[in-house]
Amino acid sequence: MSFTALVEQVGPGTPAGTILRRYWQPVAVAAQLPVGGTQPLRILGEAFTLYRDERGAAHVVGARCAHRGTFLHTGWVEDDCIRCFYHGWKFEPSGQCVEQPAEPAGFARAVRIPSHPVEEYAGLVFAFFGEGAPPPLPRFPELEAPGIKVVAGIRPPGPWPVNYFQVLENSVDPVHLCFVHRATQPFTRVIPEVRAERSGDGVAMTAVRDGVERHTKYWFPHLIQLPLWPIPGERIECPFFNWKVPVDDGHTLFIAATAVPEHLADRVDDEEIGGRTMEAAAGPGLLAGDRRPASVTEEDYVAIVGQGTFADRVGERLGRSDVGVIELRRLWQEHLDALAGVAP
Ligand code: FES
Ligand SMILES: [Fe+2]
Repeated sequence: MSFTALVEQVGPGTPAGTILRRYWQPVAVAAQLPVGGTQPLRILGEAFTLYRDERGAAHVVGARCAHRGTFLHTGWVEDDCIRCFYHGWKFEPSGQCVEQPAEPAGFARAVRIPSHPVEEYAGLVFAFFGEGAPPPLPRFPELEAPGIKVVAGIRPPGPWPVNYFQVLENSVDPVHLCFVHRATQPFTRVIPEVRAERSGDGVAMTAVRDGVERHTKYWFPHLIQLPLWPIPGERIECPFFNWKVPVDDGHTLFIAATAVPEHLADRVDDEEIGGRTMEAAAGPGLLAGDRRPASVTEEDYVAIVGQGTFADRVGERLGRSDVGVIELRRLWQEHLDALAGVAP
């Protein structure tokens, strides 16, 4: 199978899907899941139910009821359980069925739905979909520094119709700023000198413009840390952690946590941080060239979704300035080789 096919497929049992499931996935913004709230959740090509119980804890269980398969997110939260909308079966956070109103006692014990570990951090809900016990949830000093407020949000307009890997490639490509963002960030028009170095299980990118270095860190498998300008037009930089979460092979959700100084926090919109605005209906017109993109997000959308849902890596021509893309792919190839038992 080609490298492209290997990294693009994220479903259960696929090589990249297996690797991604070994890491915690941010699945929601904590503030968008109220007590007693439920949400359908789609991630890595699978469907789940996300809910917050009456004690305040978030849980991820299977998408469908074990009885006759209706969606569980349409049901009710009761104490720490979720009750099905159809015939009232009730499930614990562990997935264990504990009540079947129309059945004899004893049947419920034999019924269980999937359940996954959940933790909350930096305003985000994380879940683990891999085998066995999860690793510790990664934490970052920048998001815990005194005097900052963490602003968590999902980049509009929701899941982008594009594979996650080309979104990652965009993030380790500092040259794109000179053209893609020339209208909204004119101070990045200078063509940078680009360096990419291994840094732990990741890639450290440096872009040098007029002697000034800008650093982007890629953390395997799908986290990008970079300095963000949270207020459009102002060169105030804040640590920005942005996960490119595969919803399925053809859709990617951007979930971010930004460390904003407290005195600036009321000037920052959590969903539209750094001018990252876009209307849900704007995509087709932008891609058709009906108008120029008008925000940082619209600009990235035109470039990345413009490659197609799945970028063509056979017909492409990489150059010296693509060192970040090359290093990203090398690192993924090493993880894929390790999974397949290929010696380095
Ligand atoms: S389908 Fe859920 S209780 Fe019947
Ligand atoms: Fe961009």
